[in-house]
Amino acid sequence: MSNRQRMADEELQVWAYRMEAKLPQDVLVLAVENFAGNLVLASSFGAEDVVLIDMLHKLAPTIPVFYLDTNKHFAETYETRDKLQERYQTKYIQVLPQMTLAEQEEKHGEKLWETDPNLCCQIRKVEPLQRVLSGYDAWITGIRRDQAPTRAHAKKVEWDDKFNLVKFNPLADWTMDQVWEYIHANQVPYNPLHDRHYPSIGCSVCTRPVLPGQDPRAGRWAGFDKTECGLHK
Ligand code: ADX
Repeated sequence: MSNRQRMADEELQVWAYRMEAKLPQDVLVLAVENFAGNLVLASSFGAEDVVLIDMLHKLAPTIPVFYLDTNKHFAETYETRDKLQERYQTKYIQVLPQMTLAEQEEKHGEKLWETDPNLCCQIRKVEPLQRVLSGYDAWITGIRRDQAPTRAHAKKVEWDDKFNLVKFNPLADWTMDQVWEYIHANQVPYNPLHDRHYPSIGCSVCTRPVLPGQDPRAGRWAGFDKTECGLHK
């Protein structure tokens, strides 16, 4: 454990405690006040992320936004990226995998997402995330506690052991309904797939629509015993 991590741990616990009853915007202000210049927002252009893009635009429009471009996103996801850019003039950082799809196919065979989805996520999401986060001291994500049991204990501010930096989860205690209330009240552009039974959207080759009443993440890696790709513990 580094000195920086030990120091951060104590302070972060106090921050997490202070932020627990606060609004997402308060968490963003705390993040900006302490880390501006070394802070970045991670966006997959899903419902939570468009909320954060809107909030951050109103509070601190210069904070950079990156997206992990797996080269396998839905056309609708890229269109949402562009609509948000028109609305907010956000200059996104596009983070690409080290391997092109053709190189991946040559090395690991056709449709790696079907034969070894963990390796595919590692190549196309986790390694690129590691690379981009190494340039920052803190990142902001859209994870919410009620998205999955693996996220149930997410704090609004915490130390990210995997990537070694501070992690802000301003929407940790929001429900899906609160996310949608915000989107509609603020007329935030969103991915139209959400209106077509895709509550959670990843790569097009690994995301299916869900049935009414099904777990919102049931369409992610459907058919595999896999619920996380490795961006979040
Ligand atoms: S995932 O790990 O299962 O793919 P999910 O889609 O729930 O994650 O998104 C949770 C949060 O992870 C998002 O709010 C966003 O902060 C971050 N995230 C997920 N996918 C990406 C991506 N492609 N690029 C950047 N950030 C992402």
